[in-house]
Amino acid sequence: MTESGAPDPGALNAGALNAGALRDLAREIGLEAAALAARMRRDGIEVAATKSSATDVVTEADRAVEDLIRERLRAARPDDGFLGEESGGPGERGSGVTWIVDPIDGTVNFLYGIPAYAVSIAAEVDGRVQAGVVVDIATGEVWSAVRGQGSFRGERPLRIRDSGPLGHWLVRTGFGYAADLRAVQAVAVTRMLPQVRDIRRIGSCALDLCAIAAGESDAYVEEGVHDWDHAAAGLIAEEAGAAWEVLRGASGADLLLVAPADRFAEFRALVLDCGFAAAG
Ligand code: IPD
Repeated sequence: MTESGAPDPGALNAGALNAGALRDLAREIGLEAAALAARMRRDGIEVAATKSSATDVVTEADRAVEDLIRERLRAARPDDGFLGEESGGPGERGSGVTWIVDPIDGTVNFLYGIPAYAVSIAAEVDGRVQAGVVVDIATGEVWSAVRGQGSFRGERPLRIRDSGPLGHWLVRTGFGYAADLRAVQAVAVTRMLPQVRDIRRIGSCALDLCAIAAGESDAYVEEGVHDWDHAAAGLIAEEAGAAWEVLRGASGADLLLVAPADRFAEFRALVLDCGFAAAG
């Protein structure tokens, strides 16, 4: 929905595809996936492999949960594309719908038992996310959104907070897995810290963006996140009144910014000033 309450021109044409049905399917599968992840954590987990660096870990649970989501989606909608953190493509296929999935966002928290990790499932239609669901695995709480229809925590509608001066903002961030990227992030965060209320690093991009939608923080910035980290929660934040943008980060990876839509330019200027983005 736009500010004026008029239908969002980017919303799906009702006759073309029912985004609410995609959200319902994502919620049903997300809850089953979260239950599997929680069960595997109770049974004991360990690192199965590393990915981009020695600290970028994957557990058997990440793989099993992604397999379950992929199988359930294929059974329900065989012509859809799929993009998952652990198994990749086949990306877009005949139906125009592609599911973007992070089986466990916050894998390091999951490994250590810090209760901030989530299943994230988004349905992208012709290149634009139309429905998104994030299931907090530790609490079972469901965050969801359909484009043009608002976002919800369970049944409760979400709205971003009324942010005051930039110097009073609580900003969430995260750090990538590569040492050189972290060195750049550390310098940029050092520059930002004296200019805002405080910084939070929770360890799950998806839950960070849901928290912004719920008014529990003001903004988010991180270089090195991937589509599967923010596809679902980005829509949840957007439908609650935030805007987001992906720029080129100082290390050359994607730099994600999320902030209240009407204050976005101010936050963007601060992020650039602190050196998070590539020059030029
Ligand atoms: C990670 C989390 C973390 C962020 C990292 C992501 P993963 O996702 O979202 O908060 O700082 O950049 O890679 O690896 O746990 O799915």
